[in-house]
Amino acid sequence: MAQGAGTAVSGVAFEDVSFSYSAGGAGRSALCDITLTLSSGELLAVVGANGSGKSTLARLCNGLLVASSGVVRVDGLDPADPDLTWDVRSRVAMVFQDPDNQIVGTVVEDDVAFGPENLGVPADEIRRRVDAALAAVGLAGFERREPHLLSDGQKQRLAMASALAMEPAYLVLDEPCAMLDPEGRADVLALADALAHERGHGVLLVTHDIADVAVADRVAVLDRGVLSFLGDPEDLLSDDAALTAAGLEMPSIGVLAALLRESGFDVPRRALTPEALVGALWH
Ligand SMILES: Nc1ncnc2c1ncn2[C@@H]1O[C@H](COP(=O)(O)OP(=O)(O)O)[C@@H](O)[C@H]1O
Ligand SMILES: [Mg+2]
Repeated sequence: MAQGAGTAVSGVAFEDVSFSYSAGGAGRSALCDITLTLSSGELLAVVGANGSGKSTLARLCNGLLVASSGVVRVDGLDPADPDLTWDVRSRVAMVFQDPDNQIVGTVVEDDVAFGPENLGVPADEIRRRVDAALAAVGLAGFERREPHLLSDGQKQRLAMASALAMEPAYLVLDEPCAMLDPEGRADVLALADALAHERGHGVLLVTHDIADVAVADRVAVLDRGVLSFLGDPEDLLSDDAALTAAGLEMPSIGVLAALLRESGFDVPRRALTPEALVGALWH
């Protein structure tokens, strides 16, 4: 397959990327001069208020949208090059917010097989991929189930299995937990964590829940299309001004943890769930 301009740089790289939905770049840009890279084995959280540009950034990663200016590269390949569309999309898989909108198969295994079938993968290899993907998301044994009978959390994990069956290097998850109950949310978040840190995928996790940054290696904050913070989650979590400026709210567990820290308790800044807070106090 074509290898593009021959740049051997790995990762999903944004260089001075701007994007405007209106033709010719008139009006306000949805994204302004974004420079960042998602690497293999890394979980990069992208947070920001509604309308800050998170989904736009996600869609630029695999060519669903094309930069108005600047450069996006996926392992050196240009997602805007029509000849590279399939190569890029097999490297960067997307999972969206709505668990009901992503299912195409009438049974679970058909749904997972759909992507590799479209790529022309041989049948025995498809079987292997389907089994591996379902095992990876904790849905082994669900092969013949009807997707619409699954819980929302299971549907999202099915969507992630279908993405994994493409054997992508990178996964872009656009608010995958937004419509889930707390259990489904915790399962999907744990899976995102494992895919990056145990399986070596580069995972871009878009979220509006600041508690999710606890599992991230780095966090990017978008504020009205501008990258207002890129760095260590702990630095963001200790910067109330940066959080407030970006329209982000510290969850009440984080407020409680801050009060405990002020009182001399050794509570890490990433302890943003009840379980993590109890774990930190009980060690
Ligand atoms: N299809 C579209 N056409 C025109 N404007 C859009 C479209 N999608 C999003 N926008 C605008 O682009 C900005 C960023 O949107 P989006 O990337 O969806 O933000 P987020 O995912 O953070 O909520 C917002 O001002 C939004 O209104
Ligand atoms: Mg969005």
